[in-house]
Amino acid sequence: MCGIIGISSNKPVSANIINSLKKLEYRGYDSAGIATLSDGEINEVKSEGRVDNLENNFDLKNLRGNIGIGHVRWATHGVPNSLNAHPHSSSNVSVVHNGIIENSTILKNHLINKGHNFKSQTDTEVIVHLITEHLKTSKLEEAITKTLNQLHGSFALGIVFKDMPDLIVGARRGSPLAVGYGPNENYLGSDSYALKSMTNKITYLDDGEFCIVKKDQVIFFNENGKKVNKKILELSSDEASYDKGDFKHFMAKEIEEQPTTIKTGIKEYIDSVNKEINIFNFPWKIKDINSITLIGCGTAYHSCLMAKYWFEELTNLDINIDIASEFRYRKNRFKKDSLYVFVSQSGETADTYAALDICNKNSMKTCAVVNVIESSIARDSNFVLPIHCGPEIGVASTKAFLGQILVLYMLALKIGSLRNEIEKNKYQEKIKELKALPGLIEKTLLYDNDIQAISNTFNEAKGSMFLGRGYSYPIALEGALKLKELSYIHAEGYPAGEMKHGPLALIEEGMPVVVLAPRDKYYKKTISNMQEVIARGAKVLLITSKSKGEVISENIWETIEVENTNDDLLPFLLTIPLQKLAYYSALKKGYDIDKPRNLAKSVTVE
Ligand code: F6R
Repeated sequence: MCGIIGISSNKPVSANIINSLKKLEYRGYDSAGIATLSDGEINEVKSEGRVDNLENNFDLKNLRGNIGIGHVRWATHGVPNSLNAHPHSSSNVSVVHNGIIENSTILKNHLINKGHNFKSQTDTEVIVHLITEHLKTSKLEEAITKTLNQLHGSFALGIVFKDMPDLIVGARRGSPLAVGYGPNENYLGSDSYALKSMTNKITYLDDGEFCIVKKDQVIFFNENGKKVNKKILELSSDEASYDKGDFKHFMAKEIEEQPTTIKTGIKEYIDSVNKEINIFNFPWKIKDINSITLIGCGTAYHSCLMAKYWFEELTNLDINIDIASEFRYRKNRFKKDSLYVFVSQSGETADTYAALDICNKNSMKTCAVVNVIESSIARDSNFVLPIHCGPEIGVASTKAFLGQILVLYMLALKIGSLRNEIEKNKYQEKIKELKALPGLIEKTLLYDNDIQAISNTFNEAKGSMFLGRGYSYPIALEGALKLKELSYIHAEGYPAGEMKHGPLALIEEGMPVVVLAPRDKYYKKTISNMQEVIARGAKVLLITSKSKGEVISENIWETIEVENTNDDLLPFLLTIPLQKLAYYSALKKGYDIDKPRNLAKSVTVE
């Protein structure tokens, strides 16, 4: 999704802006641009496509200036071309914008009536003209406050002014924005990652705030234009995670990292000596929680669905799950004894944040399960459970999914034990089995060549289906999502038992169908459903767990056997071959694996 960078320095900034934009590439975007200020001019360059195009199309050495803003754009209003790329400028003001201005049409008509000319199809351009208009009669802070008050929707903004060549204005509502501090220069960035190569000293703007960034000073204002003091945070430096190392893609690296990330997650939460799960500083009494609602989007929603099965089994609580974009607009009944859990890798997903905001406004108990602990969702939740996966750069979520379900599983186990729903020895046995999980994931990762060969058939097919029951059903949905987002192959995830209620009609000769049937309590039922699709011509890839030589069924096209473990943990192992299947399909098709078309890593607009 869109990304912003701004630098105010005592030396030329264009090279560092380009470097920082490259750090933002993982978010997914379709055009890029930069504006710098020098010799009383705004110098603007913009290109469709990658940041590389900016470097190839323009001589950036000539883009002079010690102050500038840059942007990668993920199109919302207007097609992705160089005209609609940011920055957008008037003769005096240049703006980069993340988010959506919902009342842009009304504002544009009003501005056109006042004589303003618009060049692009974007909503952003109204911001440029509004500020230009207000600066005719107001000083800077007042012009900014007036402009922001007129905007409906969400935004993070970086703004430079020809007449004020020593400052950048940043502003935030809904979309995240951070300020960074360096030697003789200061920065603006849509996330700390963009700034990390330059500084680890960061201040996050809160909703409604704006700031003035100069090379030696940063001033913050609240939504009424009053100055506010803000804390500077020091972020840990984990630059190595931002490097692909020997891997061809971040996604490949992130898949292979999973034994380590799961081991770290277990270490962070499990006290091995006392065989106990530690959820330190949990702020509520267990007896005060009678229901749990888990909310997320995409893969994070699949984690919520996975967790529903575990929580119901282990805690005997009332468990609801919701897709954030649905939850936020429905009439919800808020109950005092409910806990709301928000699951998000980035911690910045606009819909998930909006759902959290609604719960906070209704004084609910809110808990974030996030990877980015400095994120908006983490900061605005009552309690945070980090998943400790390290930065996830590939747009398709892999290690964060396993990290999310790990933390949710441990939370379910802990709450179940505190509610006396699990016997002590069973609880400790489950903890022991959990500790063996990284080793089992490592073994499952070895199925590489088999999956590479299997992926050819998926690439030749018109479409595919992923079936599972019980604990395997959320994994079927996740497997289908991975395949469609990476290899652009139509893939449907379904509960295996639902096939004869409609989707069976889709099955035709040679259609690849993944059946997830580990040897858990659903095994026999799923195998029957598998036979129904085989009888109608499907080519079945059966993913099951190891057994002692038993023949499962005839006419199965391919079988992959993951390691055996307790039923609760099988979903972790089933996920691995599906991640690899999606990866290899996309690899063979030559697609951009880390940045699939039309998608973004951090979905900061609704
Ligand atoms: C799919 C994927 C997305 C994200 C979704 C939520 O591979 O990555 O579906 O899971 O956009 O993102 P977060 O977890 O950052 O809230």
